[in-house]
Amino acid sequence: MPTESEMPLSPDDIHRRYRELQQYVGWTPEDAARVQLLAATLEPYLPTLVDDFYQEIQRHPDVYRVITGGQAQVERLKGALLAWLRELFSGPYDRDYVLRRWRIGQRHLGIGLDQIYVQAALARLRAGLLHALDQSWQGNWPPEGGAIRRSLNLLLDLELAIIQDAYHREHVELIAEHTRAQGELAFRALVEAAPCMVIIITAPDRSILYFNPFAETVTGYTSAEVLGKNLVELLNGSALAAGMALEKGTEFEALIRCKDGSRRWVLWNHEHLSDFRGSPASLVVGLDRTELKDAQQRAWHSERLAELGVLASGLAHEIRNPLNSIRFNLLNVQDGVAQPQTDPADVAAMVKDIADEVDRLEGIMREFLHLARPDPAQVEVVEVRELLESVARLVDGPCRAQKVEFALDCAARVRAAADPNQLKQVLLNLVLNAQQAMPQGGRLDLRCQAPADGVRIEASDTGPGIPEDIRDKLFQPFF
Ligand code: HEM
Repeated sequence: MPTESEMPLSPDDIHRRYRELQQYVGWTPEDAARVQLLAATLEPYLPTLVDDFYQEIQRHPDVYRVITGGQAQVERLKGALLAWLRELFSGPYDRDYVLRRWRIGQRHLGIGLDQIYVQAALARLRAGLLHALDQSWQGNWPPEGGAIRRSLNLLLDLELAIIQDAYHREHVELIAEHTRAQGELAFRALVEAAPCMVIIITAPDRSILYFNPFAETVTGYTSAEVLGKNLVELLNGSALAAGMALEKGTEFEALIRCKDGSRRWVLWNHEHLSDFRGSPASLVVGLDRTELKDAQQRAWHSERLAELGVLASGLAHEIRNPLNSIRFNLLNVQDGVAQPQTDPADVAAMVKDIADEVDRLEGIMREFLHLARPDPAQVEVVEVRELLESVARLVDGPCRAQKVEFALDCAARVRAAADPNQLKQVLLNLVLNAQQAMPQGGRLDLRCQAPADGVRIEASDTGPGIPEDIRDKLFQPFF
């Protein structure tokens, strides 16, 4: 944002500044009239003064270097300076006059002329003009001679002021522009080297204004291809659109479609830019997480495989006992049937044992299948206290039998979204496990709290606790 001194001045501003300067130095219409009287007196001296002006310039290489057009340009400049001198005396010192004078300062800046030489040149011109006056009056000074010299000096001071003002203003503007350009260059270099997608889009219609090289690499589109296109449509990211509807600064993950049809996972973040090249816009930054996601997925699969291995060995262990028992009973039945004195009731008992073991095997298989392919949860609003009370009723008998004091602490109205059967099963297993761990009796507490962010159910008992070395295996099936 340019500061006030960097703002370009309008022609009216320039004129106003000149009139203010006139007032400041005390320039009056009388001064103008006195200078006008000089025109005829000084006219014969002007060509010599102009020649001297350019001869002196040619003696200073640092000054002369700005005249790049050789003698032809010097001749043209002499004409311009002569016209300038004539107008100096004639006026009128109006808006157009001031603007023409202002342009001289601008031209000098354009050719890279050091201001110090303009001051020196004007001092030389001033000395020449005053000398010409002395020569013209030949010691015979008019009564107004002092006032005339004073008016001429004031006018030359005003001329220098306006040329320098223009030069300075233009210079500041140029520097400000350069600084802005440098700032933009530094910003570009930074953003173009950034290892993340940096995209700037219009708000609210989301057409692309800027697409950095990293975004090109990830998506396969070139910046030229995408400028002006709608970002969400281009990347086919309905999740991207949904994420951008979130509050600015919120991170969200969204899948995008690249130019070659492939899909990539990107972690997005967006910020509002109140002014990008004069309009509101959105800055959208994306981190390509595809490789990370793939690695996570691979890790998940190998974890599942490892779990399956544990599951299989647990299963083998679980079915070995019933199988052994079945084999043992079958052999006994075989022996019993072979011997005529065998009591049929004994055979019947053995067959029943076999049937029980088959039931057990069936139970294990059911459990295994349930683990491998769990029933989808039937989530509903559960009255937690009611559910805990039904668990308490179920464990009441076993607890009493074992002198385990069971206590339930739950507020009357606690609700949770859950599958009631699954939740009940988990709690029942937990409580029965605790009760079985206290064969000498003890105390079992089931508490329920409802903080603002959910429902928390805690179980504690006075049993020996879970040994440290097997705690991390608690959630392994068949452990
Ligand atoms: C009192 C001091 C000076 C006055 C009053 C003056 C006056 C002028 C004027 C009236 C113009 C024409 C502006 C236009 O095209 O609109 C001009 C341009 C120029 N002046 Fe000066 N000048 C001064 C000092 C100098 C000095 C010291 C140099 C040093 C070489 C210089 C070199 C130039 C050049 C190269 C141009 C550009 C000419 C072109 O466009 O071809 N001036 N000057």
